[in-house]
Amino acid sequence: MKAIFNKFLNLNNLGFLIIGIAVFGLISYINYRFYGVEKMIAQSEAQMAVSNNQNQKKIKEIYDLINNTQSTQSSIASVLEQEKQKNSILNDQFSEITNTVGALEKLSTTDPELLKKYSKVYFLNEHYIPVSLAEVPAEYRDEQSVNYQFLTDALPFLQELIDAGNSDGVSIKAFSAYRSFATQSTLKDAYKVAYGSGANTFSADQGYSEHQLGTALDFTTSKTSGILVGFSHTPEYKWLVDNGYKYGFVISYPDGNAYYKFEPWHWRFVGVALATRLHEENKYFYDEDQRTIDNYLVNIFDK
Ligand code: DAL
Ligand code: ZN
Repeated sequence: MKAIFNKFLNLNNLGFLIIGIAVFGLISYINYRFYGVEKMIAQSEAQMAVSNNQNQKKIKEIYDLINNTQSTQSSIASVLEQEKQKNSILNDQFSEITNTVGALEKLSTTDPELLKKYSKVYFLNEHYIPVSLAEVPAEYRDEQSVNYQFLTDALPFLQELIDAGNSDGVSIKAFSAYRSFATQSTLKDAYKVAYGSGANTFSADQGYSEHQLGTALDFTTSKTSGILVGFSHTPEYKWLVDNGYKYGFVISYPDGNAYYKFEPWHWRFVGVALATRLHEENKYFYDEDQRTIDNYLVNIFDK
């Protein structure tokens, strides 16, 4: 039994030895593999760390790039905005210059005499005739009047005034409009014969009459006893006082003026803007400073 046991033991010893070697080999192998795997993991981790680091660096670079791009964009936007503002200032200046050039062109074609104070102040010589004259159509004239003329550019304003009066139930007619230097001279001589020096209180010497401009006229209506006398008591005169400015007309010689006797019939075209301002400020043309009046010349025919 013991022999068997010893044999077995011997065998067993060998077996154990083999098994031990096998187990040791296996463990060593596993260890080796495990160590290899660990090493690989460690390497991978190291690589990942490096690559992570690199990635983070790259991400940071990208962020920096984005930030730089955004800041460049915002600088470009601000430069663009500045350029836009400069452009808009240039545009404003350009349109100002264009307007000035337009105004100068307009002024160069507008008769500078049209807003001068002629009554006993400025003188129009015998050669002065308005730039262009047009006949006042018969329906706008008093039937007793001859073929009167008016400045062509101002005639539409006169016609509109008379039409508006008609619509409001008053009948205003043009009686005397443009008078040449020669005509005024003949008229004044006739008045002097009849009234002596008294003629100077109601009739201008040749060269000093607004009638020579082609923009002044005498109004009448069939409701007066004479052609002009009594005009101040008519609804036509009242209508003119209330509405004449809307069409650019002002009375030249109101009651108490410094030049002539009260002439309710004698009106002058000075343009809507100036006439409106005088009306609103309750002033008369001859009360205004000539330099102030001249500012309105450029827009005299504007509606
Ligand atoms: N009756 C005005 C003053 C003129 O003769 O012009
Ligand atoms: Zn007159």
